[in-house]
Amino acid sequence: MKIKRTHHCGDLNKNQLDQEVGLCGWVDRWRDHGGVVFIDLRDRSGIVQVVFDPSHKSISDANTLRQEFVIAVKGKIRNRPEGMKNTNLATGEIEVIVSDLEILNRSQQLPFSLHEDSPSAGEVDEQLRLTYRYLELRKSKLQNNLRIRHEFVKTAREYYFENGFWEIETPILYKTTPEGARDYLVPSRVHPGMFYALPQSPQTLKQLCMISGMERYVQIARCFRDEDLRADRQPEFTQVDVEMSFVTEEDIYDIHEKLMAKVFKNVLKKELKVPFERVPYPTAMELYGSDKPDLRNSLKLVDLTEQGKKSSFQVYQTALSQGSILKALCFEEKEPLSRSELDALPKKVSPYGAKGITWIRIKSPGDWQSPQAKFFDETLKKEIESKLPFKQGAMVLLICAKSTVVNNALSALRLEYGERFGYTDKTQDRFAWVTDFPLFEYNEEDKRFYAAHHPFTRPHPEDRDLFMNKNDDESTAKIRACAYDLVWNGFEIGGGSLRIYDSSVQARMFQKLGISEEEAQRKFGFFLRALQFGTPPHGGIALGVDRIAMLLAGCDAIRDVIAFPKTQKASCLMSEAPSQPDPKQLEELFIRTVVPKKED
Ligand code: AMO
Repeated sequence: MKIKRTHHCGDLNKNQLDQEVGLCGWVDRWRDHGGVVFIDLRDRSGIVQVVFDPSHKSISDANTLRQEFVIAVKGKIRNRPEGMKNTNLATGEIEVIVSDLEILNRSQQLPFSLHEDSPSAGEVDEQLRLTYRYLELRKSKLQNNLRIRHEFVKTAREYYFENGFWEIETPILYKTTPEGARDYLVPSRVHPGMFYALPQSPQTLKQLCMISGMERYVQIARCFRDEDLRADRQPEFTQVDVEMSFVTEEDIYDIHEKLMAKVFKNVLKKELKVPFERVPYPTAMELYGSDKPDLRNSLKLVDLTEQGKKSSFQVYQTALSQGSILKALCFEEKEPLSRSELDALPKKVSPYGAKGITWIRIKSPGDWQSPQAKFFDETLKKEIESKLPFKQGAMVLLICAKSTVVNNALSALRLEYGERFGYTDKTQDRFAWVTDFPLFEYNEEDKRFYAAHHPFTRPHPEDRDLFMNKNDDESTAKIRACAYDLVWNGFEIGGGSLRIYDSSVQARMFQKLGISEEEAQRKFGFFLRALQFGTPPHGGIALGVDRIAMLLAGCDAIRDVIAFPKTQKASCLMSEAPSQPDPKQLEELFIRTVVPKKED
């Protein structure tokens, strides 16, 4: 490189008129206007227009420039002529008149345009974009996303360091760390037939750091979970992982509220109000049907179980006598739902397991329109209306089923209609700590309890007797945990708990989870042993870096803030991972694969 870079394209402005600058970057666009060549030169900081005069020595080279060639130019900054200024561009008032050009590299024609305004931009298939991810990453939107992610991580690191946390690395080749997903396994060559598990999180390791007396640990940790993917889940993702000794829940809330306020200030240049709201889990489920409520949405669910029992609707009678509940979502119909929309409601809720849904249109008090209106007498109508937030021009959607089904279905409708009818104030940012989670979750399919957070979570001190001494399912379901989630605009961006620090309580936990002593020793013997050597009371949290970056950048999917994401099928289209290993590698690992035949 002969030309020395002195400035970045996006940083130039009219205060630097007549300065000589050296710039490097990519040809974003080129135009030839009657022999004058105009290049939009792009680097990470932005774009500036550079101009080649037809009489200049470099004009013949300039004529060969095409999109995405890499060049260096030397030139002087000057004002653009009146009428040629571009108000859409930060550097749109000026241009650089070139005195020297160096072509550093050429580019083949790209498989798709990088310009959002190109006619084909919207049609580029995701597969193609991910195959050439390094090209897609040249787009300013994605570069901006990764900058925001970097600023978040930088702010977080600095914040934790200022607050006495040590960054400690923990191993990736490890043993199962259960967080409710399947493990990714790595075969050992040195120990035939043995496998490492990649950590689903550094949970046991960070607790061991507390046992080691590190007191305040932080790590920007990569986690691996083989689970069904969604827009906000990847098989490998990043956490800001934190553990602290001698703390209460409040200490953990306080330190993370201040962190988020700092992140808002540094990254979004916005003030964030702290402390955050606290919503106990039972309240979240009752009012919003979700443990990650979007509090920007003012709609609340209403429990009508008692009123349902008084109706003469046989469907309700039967279900309610078998332990179902009846809940409603009520909103003002700013534009009435059409007949076909009403007919389509059952299909909308069936993925959540709801077998049906009732709609009631309350035109005015007592004047109900609904196929089921006849099952409610006047007194009951009045009683129900007194519980609803709207009684005039209101739509009421009711679901009667097991509580999980009702809550899942109605919380989805709450989000949909909240947004559609203007109940969700998108100008706000609403954070909440969801607290008092249950310790265990019952799985209907397996007919057993699982740890709701993970098996290292401390039972609520008020429920210690239930935990240590009772064995019936009803008592187990009632035990609360010292566990909390951090929710931002309806996204779970973090979760944590105070931990068990007594080995007998930990052993009881494994017992309650149906893990035999032998299995507990095999999987976690080292950890149970460590708990016996003076473990301090401790607790922590992990924040989802990808989700936080997604929300800071205003994106809909975490793959937009991950440089090289995986697809829904956990593959990398660019490198074609996963791929078949060399047979020799398998031989060295003593592995023979048995792949089921693909169905036609
Ligand atoms: P948890 O499993 O709740 O807790 O994870 C913490 C946070 O990590 C993010 N997250 C994910 N992000 C992207 N893709 C995924 N597949 C994914 N899974 C989780 C979420 C979530 O809130 N060891 C505990 C933490 C602790 O107790 O300290 C843990 O991992 O934002």
